[in-house]
Amino acid sequence: MRQALKGTVAVQVRPGGGLRGRCRVPGDKSISHRALILGALAEGDSAIEGLLDAGDTRATRRVMQALGVELEQANGALIVRGRGLRGLAPPAAPLDCGHAGTAIRLLAGALAGQRFASVLDGSAQLRRRPMRRVVEPLRQMGAQIVDTEGRAPLHITGAPLRGVAYRMPVASAQVKSSLLLAGLYASGPTVVLEPGPARDHTERMLRAMGVDVEIAEGCCVTLMPPERLRPLSLRVPGDPSSAAFVLVAALLAGVEDVTVAGVGVNPTRTGLLDILAAMGAEIDVTNPRDESGEPVADLVTRRAALRGTVIEGEWVVRAIDEFPALMIAALKAEGVTEVRGAEELRVKETDRIAVMAAELRELGAVIEERPDGFRIAGPQRLRGAVVDGHDDHRVAMALILAGLVAEGPTTVTDAACVEDSFPGFVETLRALGADVEQTPGD
Ligand code: S3P
Repeated sequence: MRQALKGTVAVQVRPGGGLRGRCRVPGDKSISHRALILGALAEGDSAIEGLLDAGDTRATRRVMQALGVELEQANGALIVRGRGLRGLAPPAAPLDCGHAGTAIRLLAGALAGQRFASVLDGSAQLRRRPMRRVVEPLRQMGAQIVDTEGRAPLHITGAPLRGVAYRMPVASAQVKSSLLLAGLYASGPTVVLEPGPARDHTERMLRAMGVDVEIAEGCCVTLMPPERLRPLSLRVPGDPSSAAFVLVAALLAGVEDVTVAGVGVNPTRTGLLDILAAMGAEIDVTNPRDESGEPVADLVTRRAALRGTVIEGEWVVRAIDEFPALMIAALKAEGVTEVRGAEELRVKETDRIAVMAAELRELGAVIEERPDGFRIAGPQRLRGAVVDGHDDHRVAMALILAGLVAEGPTTVTDAACVEDSFPGFVETLRALGADVEQTPGD
């Protein structure tokens, strides 16, 4: 379906629709990928409520099915019929991870220690992304993986693994999780040393499944290989990375409070809230609760006079997916916003520094690109134009936000990719009062 729509979906945005009201956002993408993979390795049925049903997680579902895992919808939950650590079936064909970097990197770890061979592959976009960051440390554990000049496809020959202590050169939750998944099959403990607080959903989920995972705050994770994994009973919170786009829209175009209900507020994911607070925004974190071992809250935007700030260090790791949205906030903030140490943005679905800067220039923005970030002096006037979403969900959504605060109409082309993480984004904004509409383009 997605393939058929590709390049033909455009989003039309007009300024002036004031936002107000309450909404929810779809389930957390990171948690959803992990629930599908870990649920498959458990002994027994896992029940997962609120799993993200989007392009990226559909790819993971298909891969798990190709590994013999049965998935079933029952009473509003997805049931993952776990096959145990050694129960996956050898796949008959290469496993297609689509655009999903999380899927391919986590699965590389999960498949490295199996007793069968497999090939992990994905879309042309995924094939451009670096895989050595997982292949190299997995090889240190004994994995037999042949990559394609450091990229997908990855040819994996299942092999016996040993635990290692690995210091990650970049704070990456995908690398950490890949090694922890391989560590389930290793002889001896696996230790991952982190240079920054990368999201910890894998650790939380493994603990809930009965695995001995020790976390020394903000520095190292130690996993002891378990005999088995207990099944999960999980409610997936709203994705804070999706909520980010609604919150920034509300701060820039809100006429009254906007509430985003049921959002995950795991501290490894709340960098954007801290950054926006430093920029002068008031976002109340209300009704805090714990759901399936993850902190959840309702977020209410109250005040929006933004000023520029410097963003570096752990804020970058804790807000890594939120920079496209943040760029729009920076363009409308008073003063200079500078981002440093964010070179990881260049190896996401697209080079998000270059692509965002180029598209925002089409709207009249002045942005200084840096190898590891950018500098924006605000506030700036934007004028509506036709811009390209580059088949990158977060770029397309950020450009829609830019359209909300530009003068005149904006068209975002190649925007079907919004469905990769936030199906219903356009409808959600419209229900809050934005003048935005999805049309078949071209
Ligand atoms: C993710 C980790 C981050 C993030 C990605 C999802 C995850 O990537 O950008 O969208 O689910 O583990 P890195 O691990 O490469 O930083």
